[in-house]
Amino acid sequence: MDTPKKRIFSGIKPSGELTLGSYIGAIRNWVALQNDYDCLYCIVDMHAITVRQNPADLRRRTLEQLAQYIACGLDPEKNIVYIQSHVPAHAELSWVLGCYTMFGELSRMTQFKDKSRKNADNINAGLFTYPVLMAADILLYQADLVPVGEDQKQHVEIARDIAGRFNQVYSPTFTLPEPFIPKTGARVMSLLDPSSKMSKSEQGGDGCITLLENPDDIMRAFKRAVTDSETSVRFDPEHKPGVSNLMTIYSCATGKSFAEIEAEFEGRGYGDFKTAVGESVVELLRPIREKTQELLANRDYLESIYAAGAERAARLAQKTLDKVYRKVGFVPRARG
Ligand code: TRP
Repeated sequence: MDTPKKRIFSGIKPSGELTLGSYIGAIRNWVALQNDYDCLYCIVDMHAITVRQNPADLRRRTLEQLAQYIACGLDPEKNIVYIQSHVPAHAELSWVLGCYTMFGELSRMTQFKDKSRKNADNINAGLFTYPVLMAADILLYQADLVPVGEDQKQHVEIARDIAGRFNQVYSPTFTLPEPFIPKTGARVMSLLDPSSKMSKSEQGGDGCITLLENPDDIMRAFKRAVTDSETSVRFDPEHKPGVSNLMTIYSCATGKSFAEIEAEFEGRGYGDFKTAVGESVVELLRPIREKTQELLANRDYLESIYAAGAERAARLAQKTLDKVYRKVGFVPRARG
């Protein structure tokens, strides 16, 4: 008998368009994991509303994100791909877990402190309990591994602490999850400010490339990308963050190693290099954009995917939720 595959859970909020950074930093890795792990990939719309959203945009981006997951190569048969709000167990477990999470530990979360600063006029309770909902996402499915960026590590750690506490008070109930951080280099930085992550929040500017961006805009953004005052294409994130970021992107888009890239641009200026990176990204994103558009034109198909995904997810989630409800002392619901 084969040993059972490890379970993976991850998700992205539909609070902005997916970017080249989302692809290289997350979704591309998810695709690479889909054969060796038992994976759930969620569109976490409930997390998105911790910051005020325009309802029509949220709905559009949620469906777009689903189409993009698939267009990037996530196979909806191999993986459970679904929308968080379609599986009520997330909200239900989140309430219970909130009663096993301390005010003090939530107050110390870096993302809460950051977001409170950025949204000073809307420091709502959902923003505060965000990590509890995220813990519910992960723990409902008994996930072993959670692929996330460095900035989300603290959230996986608190999920682990909450799980450990619950297991301690009752009896083993939850698998203790671990963050699964992709190799460094997969983190894509802003093209205009290579000290900050390429993020959905700076969208609209040339620092960020969205997955649906058209080729002209992509080329323009790469031509404007910040480099440095030297002329050599050399990988050195500390001293040459802009050039190193472009090398990372080029390496991901072409499969070339850093040494090959350095050799290719030896003695040539940054102009040639930036054009080559831009062109490689245009080609990388072309099939993703086309496939996304094709999928978005087929609402029935998308609906069948998210319906099937939610059903599969709900079945797994319910098992955990039933156990939790029993352990905390809720009277089981009458059958029939
Ligand atoms: N907080 C994550 C982010 O901002 C998104 C997220 C929500 C998530 N629930 C999750 C990631 C569960 C991994 C697992 O990127």
